[in-house]
Amino acid sequence: GGGGGQQGRGRGGPGGSVRGTWSVGTALLHLQASLGAASPRPPEAPPPSGPEEAAPQAGWWLHRGTPGLPRGGRLMALEAQPLLWLALWTLAVLARSSGEDADGGWRRPGPGAPAAVTEEEHCTVERRADLSYAEFVQRYAFSRPVILQGLTDNSRFRDLCTRQRLLASFGDSVVRLSTANTYSYQKVDLPFEKYVEQMLHPQDPISMGNDTLYFFGDNNFTEWASLFRHYSPPPFSLLGTTPAYSFGIAGAGSGVPFHWHGPGFSEVIYGRKRWFLYPPEKTPKFHPNKTTLAWLQDTYPALTPSARPLECTIQAGEVLYFPDRWWHATLNLDTSVFISTFLG
Ligand SMILES: *[C@@H]1O[C@H](CO)[C@@H](O)[C@H](O)[C@H]1NC(C)=O
Ligand SMILES: *[C@@H]1O[C@H](CO)[C@@H](O)[C@H](O)[C@H]1NC(C)=O
Ligand SMILES: *[C@@H]1O[C@H](CO)[C@@H](O)[C@H](O)[C@H]1NC(C)=O
Repeated sequence: GGGGGQQGRGRGGPGGSVRGTWSVGTALLHLQASLGAASPRPPEAPPPSGPEEAAPQAGWWLHRGTPGLPRGGRLMALEAQPLLWLALWTLAVLARSSGEDADGGWRRPGPGAPAAVTEEEHCTVERRADLSYAEFVQRYAFSRPVILQGLTDNSRFRDLCTRQRLLASFGDSVVRLSTANTYSYQKVDLPFEKYVEQMLHPQDPISMGNDTLYFFGDNNFTEWASLFRHYSPPPFSLLGTTPAYSFGIAGAGSGVPFHWHGPGFSEVIYGRKRWFLYPPEKTPKFHPNKTTLAWLQDTYPALTPSARPLECTIQAGEVLYFPDRWWHATLNLDTSVFISTFLG
């Protein structure tokens, strides 16, 4: 796999479930705080003097009408009832939307899950928020990969990329699939709905990359214009290059083995995508028809520290920049939706 790289190959990943849990948990805390604040302590209630007395106050709304509760507590409970319902309703809505928000409906339970594919122990690619264009050019553009955070707001695009909305808008549209090996020779055309419902399953760990079909690139930008016009690419350009998008959706455990091409960015919309990168002069050892998953299981564990790639898992909303001719392999840890901006 030395010579030519392959143009237009891949990338893409939930921090979502963690975020969902966090938001509901946080909402609960806010809720307790605001309920407490909204029901001023009646003057006759004794002020709390220690943790033992403060504790029942914090949980009063669960004990409404308990005979042992002091009068002040029952009074607050009655006054706060509408507020309580509002709060419970808010929680229910939050819990629902955070569940959907986390994975866009892409993560599906079912048989055939691959051997657990996990994040790296140590991310060795720098993560930068608030990176200026000048520093991007000086430190990264021509020398090393970097993960960019908070560069653009693609929440609208993300909303349009849920499983339900993409199927509703583009279910009948024909997509071109490529094999998931280093040099993709074979292409297959299939209605998008068929791909999502029949082929978007977790990677079989023993199948070959040249036998696995993958939706990434070869996009019909005319037909999908109503979606792509909502994507804001990373705002950093390189002199003399023109950006080109490649959009993809792929199952957990799938990915493209090592290859290289020009510089570009890769953003995760849903799911998580693990990356392995080597500088141009450090050609990795790999079989071009084996999957990244097979490489991770068979070759990676035996690498000496100095032979290890740079690696990191990109979460939804993050963007990885890879410089010109850097070797890279990708592995989707979840069913992932992703979009790359190649600077050709
Ligand atoms: C995939 O590659 C393997 C090994 O490189 C080869 O033996 C096999 O025939 C290939 N499969 C297809 C469908 O081309
Ligand atoms: C990879 O698979 C393709 C067909 O899918 C085959 O033509 C090619 O020879 C294989 N490459 C290697 C190195 O086995
Ligand atoms: C893109 O989609 C349009 C509308 O369905 C179709 O007419 C056109 O042939 C497609 N272009 C390519 C390159 O497939």
